[in-house]
Amino acid sequence: MTEQNLNGRAAIVTGGAAGIGGATARRLAADGAKVLIVDVVEEQAEANAKRIRDAGGNAITMIGDVSQESVAKEMVERAVSEFGRLDILIQNAYGGGADRAGSAVEVEPDAWRSGMDLLVTAHYLGAKYAVPAMEESDAAPGYEPEPWTGRGRRHGSPPAANVGRIVNISSVHGMLQAPRSLIYEAGKAAVIGLTR
Ligand SMILES: NC(=O)c1ccc[n+]([C@@H]2O[C@H](COP(=O)([O-])OP(=O)(O)OC[C@H]3O[C@@H](n4cnc5c(N)ncnc54)[C@H](O)[C@@H]3O)[C@@H](O)[C@H]2O)c1
Repeated sequence: MTEQNLNGRAAIVTGGAAGIGGATARRLAADGAKVLIVDVVEEQAEANAKRIRDAGGNAITMIGDVSQESVAKEMVERAVSEFGRLDILIQNAYGGGADRAGSAVEVEPDAWRSGMDLLVTAHYLGAKYAVPAMEESDAAPGYEPEPWTGRGRRHGSPPAANVGRIVNISSVHGMLQAPRSLIYEAGKAAVIGLTR
C-alpha cells in the first residue's frame, strides 16, 4: 500500500486525462492529494477521474485548453474553490499534429504559434496564476518548511513560505535534436529555460 504522504495537498495536472499525465494524476491521488485534471478530452478526463475515485482517491475534472489565459486562471481558481488550497501543479499537456512537423522552411506560422502557445506559453500562464495561490495557501498541515536555497530574484522578495511545487514536463527533445521537428524541439528547450 502506498504511503499517503500527500494527504491534505491539492494538485492540478494539465493533460491529466491520459498518458503520462493520466498516470501522474492517479499516483498523486494514491499518495493522498486531491487532484484537478485539466484536459481538452472530456470523456477520457472523466474516465480517469472516475478511476481515481473508484480506487478511493479524490479527483475532479475541468475541460479547457491550457494555452488560453482564461483557462489557466480558471483552473487555479477552481482548485482553490474546490480544495481550499493549491500545492502542486504538473504542466504536462501536449497535443501534436501532422501540421506541427517540419523544418523552419516547412512549418506554417499558424502551426508555430499554436505549438508555442501549448508547449511554452501554457507553462508561463500556469506559473503566473498558480504561484500566488500556492503562496496564499501557505504550508500544508504537517509540512516542515526548509530554508530557501534558490538563487536569483523571484518575482519580488524571497518567498514568504517555502510552499508549492511546479513540475514542467520537458523532454529529451529539449536537449537533443531531431531533424524536421522544429516546433517540438524549440518548445521543449524553452520549457527547460523557463523552468530554470
Ligand atoms: N510519451 C513520451 O515518450 C514522452 C517523452 C518525453 C516527454 N514527453 C512529454 O510528456 C508529456 C505527456 O506526454 P504523453 O505521451 O503522455 O502525451 P499524450 O498525448 O498521451 O497526453 C497528453 C494529454 O494532454 C491533453 N491535451 C492536449 N492538448 C491540450 C490542451 N491544449 N489543454 C489541455 N490538455 C491538452 C491530451 O488530451 C492528453 O490527455 C508531454 O508534455 C510530452 O511532450 C512524453
